[in-house]
Amino acid sequence: MSAQSVPEPLYGSSPATSSRRVSVRDLAAAKERHEKWPMITAYDALTAGVFDEAGIPVLLVGDSAAMVVYGHDSTLPVTVDELLPLVRGVVRGSRRAMVVADLPFGSYQASSAQALDTAARFMKEAGAHAIKLEGGVRVAHQVETLVSAGIPVMGHLGLTPQSVNQFGGYRVQGRGEDGATLLHDAKALEAAGAFAVVLEVVPADLAAQVTQSLTIPTIGIGAGAATDAQVIVWQDMAGLNTGRTAKFVKKYADMHGVLLGAARAWADDVVTGAYPTPDHSYT
Ligand code: KIV
Repeated sequence: MSAQSVPEPLYGSSPATSSRRVSVRDLAAAKERHEKWPMITAYDALTAGVFDEAGIPVLLVGDSAAMVVYGHDSTLPVTVDELLPLVRGVVRGSRRAMVVADLPFGSYQASSAQALDTAARFMKEAGAHAIKLEGGVRVAHQVETLVSAGIPVMGHLGLTPQSVNQFGGYRVQGRGEDGATLLHDAKALEAAGAFAVVLEVVPADLAAQVTQSLTIPTIGIGAGAATDAQVIVWQDMAGLNTGRTAKFVKKYADMHGVLLGAARAWADDVVTGAYPTPDHSYT
């Protein structure tokens, strides 16, 4: 194999040296190479730029924005019109990553036509490269319609937060006999043309079985180590969120502490007159 034909690893390549965005074909090729990759949420241009610079190949503008951007206590209230500007910012702030837009609750379940209208808005008005929706067999028609319209679709199974009221809380899904249903749902998404599927808060053994059974990549969150990829809400990973977090969250930084310290130091300087100095003033 010549040096030229060695594929670029999905994770770690710099946007400065990449001539194009990551595509669904790159994700499929990574699965064939058994190469793991990270996906992270982003909701604005500056953080998208940081994650892109880190070489993270896929950015998800999740409907988790309802909670971490808009302050709701579930993902249900966020609207298409509230998510569209966030997707625009993430697309503009990144150069290499594929940007996936989450379809919010109530914007795709009614029919394939509704799903196509919503997904097309994210592609046309915000420049998303793919969309994500929740559910298995029950949304297979929607997935087929979007895929035949040329829209890459990421599925989402397990603890799908838009169904929290049906689940009676944020609890592990797919235990016992429910595991077979989840596997069936995953296969239905694959058959409908989805390019990847998120598995949220399911037993690690089940996630491993689904990962083995599918030819498309699985992306785990609270689904153990065997999935092809992992996804995380960045404010959880970076410790900006100091509220109660799930067992699967590992904090890699104390962003809350760093920002709190900076905010206090700046405010103290304003009050004492230590800021601004002549260095920060114009003549
Ligand atoms: O909305 C979101 O952030 C998500 C991920 C947690 C998978 O759906």
